[in-house]
Amino acid sequence: MPDTSLTAAARAGAATDALPGGRILMCAPEHFEVSYAINPWMRPDRWQEEGALLGARSSSGWERLVDTLRGLGVELEFAAPQPGLPDMVFTANAAVVLDGKALVATFRHPQRQGETPVFRRTFDALKDRGLLTEVHDMPAGVVLEGAGDCVWDPVRRTFWLGYGQRSDKAAAPVVRDLFGVEVEALELVDPRFYHMDTCLCPLTGGEVLYFPGAFSAEGNARILERFGAENLIVAPEPDACTLAVNAVNLGRDIVLATASPALRGMLTERGYRVHETPVSDFGLSGGSAFCLILKLDRVSK
Ligand code: ARG
Repeated sequence: MPDTSLTAAARAGAATDALPGGRILMCAPEHFEVSYAINPWMRPDRWQEEGALLGARSSSGWERLVDTLRGLGVELEFAAPQPGLPDMVFTANAAVVLDGKALVATFRHPQRQGETPVFRRTFDALKDRGLLTEVHDMPAGVVLEGAGDCVWDPVRRTFWLGYGQRSDKAAAPVVRDLFGVEVEALELVDPRFYHMDTCLCPLTGGEVLYFPGAFSAEGNARILERFGAENLIVAPEPDACTLAVNAVNLGRDIVLATASPALRGMLTERGYRVHETPVSDFGLSGGSAFCLILKLDRVSK
């Protein structure tokens, strides 16, 4: 029965990454704030001073992201924001989702651990509606901060898993066994790029937008080997530092906070349309466009 409903959802327009549109989970920034620091971008002191302004700007930026995604044909689902869980807005961290299965995230820092049971309920409700077929929990003691650290490469049908800052390397076999796909686990070595989605973005045309400084020598060698030199798009450091790599790629469209003329040129030259959306204020929490969304209809084949 659940399989049938997923097939129905797929027929009704659920899309692979290569196609525009699709179904995405977001969470309104109703309780978003920077009240603690668990990555180098987070500045609770600045939020204290300018919270009202930043709160208003981040909310309107988030609304613009909603409009941009809807304009690209995306259907949105929303998780209910909870007081005391300001980072719930970053739904990329809620789970890893593929082929109708959701693997609910666990979190390194106590400040975010309360999100796990809330997102478990969110995914159970999506399953009840036939939008997912299975909801799974991580084994006890293993951290995997969802799609933020487990980025799908739609061309190689491989997950790129980041470990060493937030998620555990031990999460790799869990993902491999549950989804039955290849997992490339790479160590993240720069605290500024603490989630895989801050430094690596595989694109639908087979290229990868990434920031080499976030990876070890072995990691860089693996990226070169799997993607091939012709597919490497190196983000200039200033773009990496405005979290431009944290981009949403749907078909030939790329949605991001801001891109320098150089980065925009590299992407348009490859045939992508670049959409700047004003989500830069989430940078004060270490997040950007990709962090704010979670694809629910991704399929491996
Ligand atoms: N403040 C959040 C944290 O540090 C930001 C998460 C951004 N999400 C992401 N997928 N990179 O956990």
